[in-house]
Amino acid sequence: MTSETVERQVENTAVEEIPIEGFDFIEFYVGNALQASYYYNRGFGFDVVAYSGLETGERNRVSYVLRQNKVQLILTSGLNPNSEIGHHVLQHGDGVKNVGLRVKDARKAYETALSRGAEGVAAPVEQEDKDGRFVTATIKTYGDTVHTFVQRREYTGAFAPGFKAVEKKGETTGLLIIDHVVGNVECERMIDWVQFYERVFGFYVYQGFDAKDISTEYSALVSKVMANKGGSIKLPINEPYPGKRKSQIQEYLDYYTAPGVQHIAISTADIIKTVAHLRDRGIDFLTVPRSYYDMLSERVGKIDEDIEELASLGILVDRESEGYLLQIFTKPVEDRPTLFFEVIQRKGAKGFGKGNFKALFESIEREQAVRGNL
Ligand code: FE2
Repeated sequence: MTSETVERQVENTAVEEIPIEGFDFIEFYVGNALQASYYYNRGFGFDVVAYSGLETGERNRVSYVLRQNKVQLILTSGLNPNSEIGHHVLQHGDGVKNVGLRVKDARKAYETALSRGAEGVAAPVEQEDKDGRFVTATIKTYGDTVHTFVQRREYTGAFAPGFKAVEKKGETTGLLIIDHVVGNVECERMIDWVQFYERVFGFYVYQGFDAKDISTEYSALVSKVMANKGGSIKLPINEPYPGKRKSQIQEYLDYYTAPGVQHIAISTADIIKTVAHLRDRGIDFLTVPRSYYDMLSERVGKIDEDIEELASLGILVDRESEGYLLQIFTKPVEDRPTLFFEVIQRKGAKGFGKGNFKALFESIEREQAVRGNL
């Protein structure tokens, strides 16, 4: 890979794309779904909208569905010691199991994926209840992570068959829709997963970043962003790159003990308001040194926001040819230093904040050092 940012033209994709409408849900396997639901309800401002567990006839697992605008999270825990969920949590800690993808035809998406070499996890299941028809099918991706194709256009229920509606409102923080979901994979495996998304889904490399783009004095990583043509799905994939010290990606892999989802970026239309709300409710963010803001006007030119306000909240800014973006990253949201969230506001810019990588990674390294892992 050269030091140039790689941007491939959409026309170059050889495989017909599996049409994906957008992210349907992100499902986490966690040690205690009830308590996790409190964190996302009170901290992030999600509504708890559906529930499945013993009371609904589900004997093996419990799931809470949380929603804020177009973002749906499922928090799932096992109810007995031998469950797949329990093993997953033991192995990985709390983390993302399933990145659900909404499709018009789950059966067709699954069959197409398998014919192109994807590994099936669950064959198409068609469920019907008083609220309509709901079809899902699941394939494997990196590590123990899976993608479920979700066909819900003929379904009007709270979430899915087997779930009962719950009304536990959150106080919204303005989170709107999932912007991208990032996966970390092992050293020198990124290209295999890039090819997986090209070959199986017909996605293309939207952008690529090499070790020169994403390096600090100590460590580096390389990344490629896989996307569908419509732009509703963006799945960056990172791998560690050898440096003087341990890459943050390697720290993730050591603690997750496998490839997996590193961060989920959710967009907002007013990042200042969103981050102020989140901070008020106890969500912890990475910090950037004051010097970052001293140079900001010079680097990004005129922006609508007050730089002092951005500095007080720790929000980063990056300028691209088509506009700019504002972003911020939480600290890991579980005990192991693995998954975190990004909040992003796009004002014309379609990238990932390349100009912030250095400041961001130095910030992550300060945290890594505190953890004794740098
Ligand atoms: Fe991101």
